[in-house]
Amino acid sequence: MAQEQKKSSYISGKESRRISRFNRKVMRKLENERFNANKDPKLYTTTMKDPNNVVEFDNVCTYFFTDVGTVKAVDGINFEIPKCSTVGVVGESGCGKSVTSLSLMQLLQRPSGQTVGGEIRFNLGDGTAYNIVNTPNSIMEQIRGNKISMIFQEPMTSLNPVFKIGQQVDEVTELHNPGMSKEEIKARTLEMLSLVGIANREGVYNMYPHELSGGMRQRVMIAIALACSPGLIIADEPTTALDVTIQAQILDLLRDLKDKINSSIMLITHDLGVVASMADYVVVMYAGRVVEKGTADDIFHHPAHPYTIGLMKSKPVVGKKVDALYNIPGSVPNPVDMPNYCYFRDRCEMRCAECDGDYPPEIRISDTHVVSCYRFKGEGEILKYPKSVNVEELL
Ligand SMILES: Nc1ncnc2c1ncn2[C@@H]1O[C@H](COP(=O)(O)OP(=O)(O)O)[C@@H](O)[C@H]1O
Ligand code: SF4
Ligand SMILES: [Mg+2]
Repeated sequence: MAQEQKKSSYISGKESRRISRFNRKVMRKLENERFNANKDPKLYTTTMKDPNNVVEFDNVCTYFFTDVGTVKAVDGINFEIPKCSTVGVVGESGCGKSVTSLSLMQLLQRPSGQTVGGEIRFNLGDGTAYNIVNTPNSIMEQIRGNKISMIFQEPMTSLNPVFKIGQQVDEVTELHNPGMSKEEIKARTLEMLSLVGIANREGVYNMYPHELSGGMRQRVMIAIALACSPGLIIADEPTTALDVTIQAQILDLLRDLKDKINSSIMLITHDLGVVASMADYVVVMYAGRVVEKGTADDIFHHPAHPYTIGLMKSKPVVGKKVDALYNIPGSVPNPVDMPNYCYFRDRCEMRCAECDGDYPPEIRISDTHVVSCYRFKGEGEILKYPKSVNVEELL
């Protein structure tokens, strides 16, 4: 067994050289294509399928061209973020949640990370949309922070240690509102600091990041994200680096803000409890694909995919005594060499004969609930099959 594993991850010198050659060629080609697409607005302007959505992910494929082969981090995902709603994206570590959000912000580590297929439509509110995949950097700079902002996991590394909090929030407001006077900018900063629950706002305005606790720093990060009233806020594991009591406070704050601001929130987390308390819609990801999506009620009260059911079972429930918490057997397949059948099959306790066939399609089992699993074949409309990109054909 150990030998087999060793064999499967072993790459000969010849193969390694072939991969490097291929990567160089494909990255050069993709970068050139990007550069050319950037010149013509027609190539990145599109329309939303549904104008009530802020963002639509349509068969998005984001791959990393690495020394061991192509990592299909996100491979054919479809989901929408409706206006003024919170969408939770859940799944275990490494399933592609952060890569999804980085693709949307166009902050992938290029040239090795590339969105090689699909469309990410961002609603401009005037009947048109940008396809973020081809949007030039000069336009992305206006979108980032202005229209989409991001709250990162680790607030200490995201704040600059040598500038005072006030200066850092002012800077963001000033950058996105060039006409504002100094007094107006400061007033806006103070307003944002009180909105995120900082009582001593004048004091905090003049403090350095190291003078604040982790929870306070995360509040400042949220104030920065809100400073330009963006249409969408991406919160990538916003509470993971904080201790439990502070986590609860930050979640209360986000929940409270959700009703005060007119933005949608894309809440990325591996913690189902966080999603349960905040999200209107939930997207469950597994190994770079969306396996189930629906309203929070669909996912929490009627989970359909065996992976979602497993996640629910592995969550501790207050008041329920168990000898050991359930854990899903096995592990996620190797992202460099994905099988062509259901990615969950080797861990699935509910598999049937059909599961040996192709990767299952998306099946609509109610107006709001979609699942990719053969158990529901015949019980709903088949929407589509995820389309992977054959990287050899990119050349
Ligand atoms: N810069 C990178 N280079 C190569 N592989 C990457 C890179 N960033 C992410 N990946 C891979 O993409 C997959 C998804 O990662 P990520 O989106 O960060 O997961 P998570 O769901 O925990 O946020 C993982 O297999 C990870 O190893
Ligand atoms: S398609 Fe089959 S193997 Fe995959 S999750 Fe559904 S039942 Fe399990
Ligand atoms: Mg992540």
